Amino acid sequence: MPSTSSSPTSDTTTDLRHVLRIDDFSDATWDALRRSAVVHRRDETRGAGTAAGRSLGLVFMNPSLRTRTSMEGAAAHLGAHHTTLVPGDGSWGLEWEEGAVMDGDAAEHVKEAIGVLSRYHDALGVRVFASGTNYAADTQDALIRTIADHATVPVVNLESAWAHPCQGLSDAALLTERLGDDLTGKSVVLSWAPHPKPLPMAVPNTALRTAARCGMDVTVARPETHALDPDLMAEAQSVADAQGGSVTTSTDQDAAAEDADVVYAKSWGGPLMYEDPTQEAEARAAHADWRITEALMARTRDGAFMHCLPVRRNVVADDAVLDGPHAAHLDQAEYRLHAQKALLQHVWGLH
Ligand code: CP
Repeated sequence: MPSTSSSPTSDTTTDLRHVLRIDDFSDATWDALRRSAVVHRRDETRGAGTAAGRSLGLVFMNPSLRTRTSMEGAAAHLGAHHTTLVPGDGSWGLEWEEGAVMDGDAAEHVKEAIGVLSRYHDALGVRVFASGTNYAADTQDALIRTIADHATVPVVNLESAWAHPCQGLSDAALLTERLGDDLTGKSVVLSWAPHPKPLPMAVPNTALRTAARCGMDVTVARPETHALDPDLMAEAQSVADAQGGSVTTSTDQDAAAEDADVVYAKSWGGPLMYEDPTQEAEARAAHADWRITEALMARTRDGAFMHCLPVRRNVVADDAVLDGPHAAHLDQAEYRLHAQKALLQHVWGLH
């Protein structure tokens, strides 16, 4: 895994259409993209040929099923070429440290790797997860910003420490399709769920920001110990206020689910996993009853069950939920393909 000890870089101020967080989109672009994704899902031509001759470079520092295959599929549908690299597994292991004396295992510095890939491709998609140990670097998304600083073509964040914009846009498109174009007044519960491991915050951060951006009423339901980052919560509150929505917090999962339109389940370690991993593990183990059950879903207003996947059955959510009438997680995963076609067209200025 890359080190996170290098200084976080500042926001990249170029005219490149980097997509590092959903906040990189203007309101007009955000609405156009979620609508475009819905159109792509219905488009029998599959966007064929609209990006013919373009080339997409994909770099995965961490495992993926959906993001990798849906980005490759999106490029194929649009007629673009793609290359996928896994550093250290078929391509050179990368050094991230500025000024490093590279006498260890890493054969290539990220500066050269991203610089070269920028010469070959018209956009780069990069996945690089949180360190899980350096909170300051993770909250500032230091690694994906380093990538953007070294790239000379647009960079699409395929999940970083703090954000997963492709997931957010896909989720917004699914919500638009299911609940209507105007999502103001619709309610979503972002529910913490149990997990054997302390998971990072990119997805819950993005799910919260996505719902706020759509003007929804969001309740973050979680045990007392598993708050999200307070600055992130304040930012989401501000976004929701501007969009006619709201953000509230609850430690009562049952009450939060009452009459909800959506239950979005996700596990996260929260700031506590950085501050006191032992206490976080104990608290996580003590809240196994936060698993998503049919009884919980029955409290909703015929609510949709969402999860970004992968999901651990009967730990995060029961089989009865995942195989039952509330389940929307496969549609949600399918939307990755359609949303990323819209996203690539945006990044390449094709609409
Ligand atoms: N939701 C998501 O990003 O899935 P993968 O980790 O499989 O890409």
